[in-house]
Amino acid sequence: MTRYLVTSALPYANGPIHFGHVAGAYLPADVYVRYLRMAKGPENVLYVCGTDEHGVAITLKAEQEGLDYRSYVDRWHKDIKGLFDRFGISFDMFSGTARCKHHVDASQKFFLALHEHGFLQERTEEQWFSEATSRFLPDRYLEGTCPNCDFNKARGDECPQCGTWVDAKELKNPVSLIDGSNPVLKPTTHWYLDLPKLKEQGLGAWYDGEDAAHPIKGWKPNVDGYVQAMFKDLHERPITRDLPWGVPLPEGIEGGEGKVLYVWFDAPIGYLSATMEWAEAQGEPEAWKSWWQGEDTRLVHFIGKDNIAFHVVVFPSMLLGQKDAWEGKAMVLPWAVPANEFYNLQGRKFSTSNGWYLDNDHFFANFDADAARFHVLMSAPETADSEFSWQEFQVTNNALLADKIGNLASRVLKFAGKRYEGHTPEVDAAVVDDLRHHDSLQEADRQFEAVGTHLEAQEFRKSCHALVAGSAALNQFFDAMEPWKLAKSDDETERARCAATIERCIAYLELLSRRLSPYCPGAAGRLRSMLGACADLADGSQWGLGAVSHVPAGLALDEAGVLFAKIDDDTIAAECERLEQQAAAQA
Ligand code: MF3
Ligand code: ZN
Repeated sequence: MTRYLVTSALPYANGPIHFGHVAGAYLPADVYVRYLRMAKGPENVLYVCGTDEHGVAITLKAEQEGLDYRSYVDRWHKDIKGLFDRFGISFDMFSGTARCKHHVDASQKFFLALHEHGFLQERTEEQWFSEATSRFLPDRYLEGTCPNCDFNKARGDECPQCGTWVDAKELKNPVSLIDGSNPVLKPTTHWYLDLPKLKEQGLGAWYDGEDAAHPIKGWKPNVDGYVQAMFKDLHERPITRDLPWGVPLPEGIEGGEGKVLYVWFDAPIGYLSATMEWAEAQGEPEAWKSWWQGEDTRLVHFIGKDNIAFHVVVFPSMLLGQKDAWEGKAMVLPWAVPANEFYNLQGRKFSTSNGWYLDNDHFFANFDADAARFHVLMSAPETADSEFSWQEFQVTNNALLADKIGNLASRVLKFAGKRYEGHTPEVDAAVVDDLRHHDSLQEADRQFEAVGTHLEAQEFRKSCHALVAGSAALNQFFDAMEPWKLAKSDDETERARCAATIERCIAYLELLSRRLSPYCPGAAGRLRSMLGACADLADGSQWGLGAVSHVPAGLALDEAGVLFAKIDDDTIAAECERLEQQAAAQA
């Protein structure tokens, strides 16, 4: 049986997560795994993530705030997990690279295997060193005079004036932005990952391969363009750093004392160590192997476009370079890397410092997570940058979710409540058979099937549209049948058509609840409980085939409740105003 190991990029534990992040790497992954659990069985799906807790940015921010590194990342870990919970992201394991007890071992083992297999190069080079703090300085924390244009505020990695990429060693009169001192050049040793060699020895073949990473639809054009350019000019990359916080180099590496692994080296190993933590929590510590070394595993990385190089080139190289180090078995390589573009907010980039963001506490105190999930996915930045707009959110919520889905459920259940005393009607099988051929029901069948086909292909926008179209078809069916007229007819056949109409509507509402479930788990659950005893006609945890073919008479239905509350114009205007004020206050 094919198994799906799904990951979302580990967010840095150094700031709040916003809707933009959620739209790119978390919500699509969550909807995908919720679908997979239903369609393939929960035992065949594992969704892991955690916070990325090392690296120079975190080190410096913690120091600036006067916090020890661990307390600093703990605070953000909690904050970030809190937002994911509100969005209903259903990780099987959410860990963190500084909190997972398997992480140091796993990362060191990765390093050692690459070292033993000849995929690392050791180089000693001069680097700026602050004698004031006895620390080497990362390039971007240096400022000085540009060797190219003499601009005196060039950074150690690039010059904002002339735009050239600066070799930090060539910066004139450098100053440390961390402590204001004048650094000196001092030799230091680092290890480089030999990407050109790894490309020769398997990465290239894997990337171009027929069966790897291609079954869905080939690499997305945004991924392929990026990777092809990278392949044309592939270099060794340093994977160690002189920093006080991170995963230490393994013991026995000469000259490695006091050095740590580069954050981008240890972070993706966080996917593996989180799986180990999950396995241990299951009471089967060895269970991670069947995911990471299983031939049937499809490893799927959901990421934002800024992470392509690391997930399509660097991490697969690291996995390939392990060879037989893990008890003789190779590690799986990614099967698909759905990389999303950026999600903006009403025409501008999300930015906490510019006040251009949605306040999470405020949002979830006033709006429904289900509606937000559906809207964000319907407007997800799958193939191009896209954005959240309050007006469009209102349209999705009111015109699609409330009017097409909520209203249908309420009309059908109210009708059954009045006309059939809240129970499913007795039907004439021949009349039901006749309705099965109704154009609108056939359209609903096609659309509800497409919801799954598109999800399987990780095409969330299309899948959302199919869900809406299927619901629209059901509304058309109800309207075209005019059951309120049929019910009053003296003609028995007309009344039989009324009963059959309601019977089919109930069958399709049950199907709709399952199709809605990956997107709007809360509303889907409410819909199922409104369906009362009819919810037992199909297993709600399974994707299943289609609408149940026959709804028995006399099953008790529940009251019609509100699935999606409407949002009025004043509320939307107030939110737009709030956003402008927030931005003005920061400016
Ligand atoms: N922390 C990185 C970012 O936010 C993503 C890390 S993804 C992983 O851009 F693969 F390294 F885990
Ligand atoms: Zn310059």
